[in-house]
Amino acid sequence: MATPRVSVLILGAGGDLTKRLLLPGLASLLAKHPYDVQVIGSGIDERSDADWQQLIRDSFAKVEDPSIAEQYLRDARFLTADATQEADLQKLLDACDGTPVIYFALPPAVTAKVCAALRRIDLPEGTRLALEKPFGVDEASARKLNRLIGRLVPEEQVFRIDHFLGMSMVLNILGLRFANQFLEPVWHSGTVDKVEIIYDETLGLEGRGGYYDKAGALVDMLQSHLLEVLALIAMEEPPRLDETELRSNIAQVLRSTRVWQGDPVTASKRARYSAGRVGDRQLPSYADEPGVDAARKTETLAQVTFGVDTARWRGVPFTLRSGKAIGKYVTEVRVTMKPVETMPGMAGAPEPDRIVLDLKTGEVEFRLSMNGSDDPFELEQTVLRVKKDPGEMLPYGQVLRGILDGDPLLSVRGDIAEQSWRIVEPVLKAWREDRVPLEEYPAGSQGPEGWTAPTSA
Ligand code: BG6
Repeated sequence: MATPRVSVLILGAGGDLTKRLLLPGLASLLAKHPYDVQVIGSGIDERSDADWQQLIRDSFAKVEDPSIAEQYLRDARFLTADATQEADLQKLLDACDGTPVIYFALPPAVTAKVCAALRRIDLPEGTRLALEKPFGVDEASARKLNRLIGRLVPEEQVFRIDHFLGMSMVLNILGLRFANQFLEPVWHSGTVDKVEIIYDETLGLEGRGGYYDKAGALVDMLQSHLLEVLALIAMEEPPRLDETELRSNIAQVLRSTRVWQGDPVTASKRARYSAGRVGDRQLPSYADEPGVDAARKTETLAQVTFGVDTARWRGVPFTLRSGKAIGKYVTEVRVTMKPVETMPGMAGAPEPDRIVLDLKTGEVEFRLSMNGSDDPFELEQTVLRVKKDPGEMLPYGQVLRGILDGDPLLSVRGDIAEQSWRIVEPVLKAWREDRVPLEEYPAGSQGPEGWTAPTSA
């Protein structure tokens, strides 16, 4: 245990995120890299230390050998507190016997209040802040929150969480793009026709109606995760793989990204699911799900095309799409090349070459044209496929590793969070004003028909 002791103080620890993602992620990290860490939970509900320790034990056991949890239970505590109150916050910080990592598993409005209260107390040297998405509710509130946080600790001690940055296939984009002679030279608008980044899930609301109905697919997935993926696909090679350079290049791409052809109405589509069957589950219509206010017209499927206005990418559409209750998981980045002219005499029309990265399964596909086996002068489509082992550490484990090491490489920098809101805001506005129809698709289908992505201009 080489690194100094850290106390992870989870605010809002009674919520679903802690047991579903945070604690299992921590377990997957600690199983590989033992840290000297104290895990403190806090919330407004009453809960005993023993209950909290049991929650840790159960969450760890979901992904790792149950014995891993044991060494972290002795000093794991739960403290009932209202973290928007200074006295309670002080009590929580006093309970930390290592460098505090204050983990905000809280809605944005409460996060802002806690940050305001933190200003009024002395934070221990080196305190780190970890903030869950959504970071603010629009560009202005994200900027305000950034300013507030900036008065508490330096940016290097702020970790805005995006677990997609901990996914091995997302990180693989770096190796694939920048360590292969045959890819980078064709990675531009001269050869690439379109890029699609798709994250369709079979999952419905999973009891998260209260949160999701205020977010919708656009904010839940595109504004955060998928724009980060777009940035990794489109950015220039950073001079070094460190937090300053990588995040500066991500920010640079996002500053050049805007809604395709400047028109949110033609560039976006939205829909929500009606009753239907997904696998062996019958789902009610989204409007009838618990926690949903149908009048809010929240979308469960969003598709938006963006343009990246740089010399490398001008004219290439980047279509981002994500949906819930879709018939099958599609979690792919597809980079489709422009069609090629074949030589006279060669039979068969080649389909465009395509590279497909599956973010969830770790599969990489190269779809190429080759000469046919039966007729060597007729082209045939061929797929070269390889499956990359995604590794044992969960994405949350990877991101938590950065936090425990004090390295924000895989966290979202403040300006990037603001840019991500700036990029989607014209779409949010057009949807609020009902200028884009809210379509419907039966749960278990692949979404409304005809939602194809544009090709290059
Ligand atoms: C979360 C979203 O951030 O990412 C969820 O809030 C979504 O709605 C999830 O299901 C997708 O990521 P993963 O890693 O669970 O596939």
